[in-house]
Amino acid sequence: MIFVLTGAGISKESGLDTFRDKDGLWTKVNIEDVATPRAFKKDPKRVLDFYNFRRRELLSDNVAPNAAHLALARLEAELTKRPGAKPSRGKDKPPLFLVTQNVDNLHERGGSKQVCHTHGRMLWAKCEACHKKFEWLKDLTLEDRCPVCQAQGRLRPDVVWFEEIPYHLEEIERNLARCDLFVSIGTSGVVYPAASYLRVVKGLNVPAVEINLAPTGAANLYDKGYYGPASQAVPRWVDEVLEKP
Ligand code: OAD
Repeated sequence: MIFVLTGAGISKESGLDTFRDKDGLWTKVNIEDVATPRAFKKDPKRVLDFYNFRRRELLSDNVAPNAAHLALARLEAELTKRPGAKPSRGKDKPPLFLVTQNVDNLHERGGSKQVCHTHGRMLWAKCEACHKKFEWLKDLTLEDRCPVCQAQGRLRPDVVWFEEIPYHLEEIERNLARCDLFVSIGTSGVVYPAASYLRVVKGLNVPAVEINLAPTGAANLYDKGYYGPASQAVPRWVDEVLEKP
C-alpha cells in the first residue's frame, strides 16, 4: 500500500500560494493574527476575512487542479483496478492512502476518491456552539447563523489552526503502520504531526520518496527524490509506479 502525504507545493501551479516559500502566505500575514484560536477570540472578523479571501480565491476561475492532482487520481484508479487489489485489501484497506495538509479541494476536483484532510477543509464551516459541520461556499460573517442550532456569530471555517489537534490521527497512524511505500509531495515537512511521519516509516524500514521543487532539509532521509515542479515530477513518479506489475 502506498501512503501519500501532500502539502501546499502540489497546489502552487494551480494558483494557490504556499506558506513558507519566499512569496508564501506566512511572509505576508502573521500566523498569530489569523491561524490560532486566540486570534479568532481577539479579532474574529480579521480571521474570517482571511479565510473569506482564500475561499473566494479557491472558487475563482483562476484555480484548477493541475497535472499532479490528476496523476494521483489516476494512480488511485489504476491501483484499485488491479486484479486482486479489492478482494485482498477490502474497502477499508485501499491500495493508496492520500493524506493532505491542504484545505483546498483540488485533489477531489482532480478525481481522487479518498482524501484524508488532516487540516480540515476551507469550503466547510463548523459551529462553535453545536459543533456541527456543513459545506459553506460563501463568505463567513459574524452575522451568520448556524443552520442547525441558529446560534449567531459562532461559525468558523472548518480548518485546523495552530495549537489545535489535526483530524483523523488514528486513521493516519494505522495506515502509516501498514504502508509499503511513503511518498511526500510538495511539503516543507516542518509542521507536526505530519513532519513526524517520515521518521515513523523509517523506523519501520519502509522506503520513502520525496517529490518537491527542491530537496528539503530532510532530503537525506529519503531513499529517492524527484525534484522539479509537481506538475511534472508527480506524473513522472506515477508512470514509474504503474509500469511495475
Ligand atoms: P510550506 O509552504 O511549508 O511548504 C511548501 C513546499 O512546497 C516547499 O517545500 C516548496 O519547496 C514546495 N513547492 C513549492 N512550489 C512547488 C511546486 N510547484 N512543486 C512542488 N513543490 C513545490 O507548505 P506545507 O508544507 O504544506 O497549516 O505547510 C504545512 C502546513 O503549514 C500547512 O498545512 C499550513 C501551514 O501553516 C496550517 O495552516 C495549520
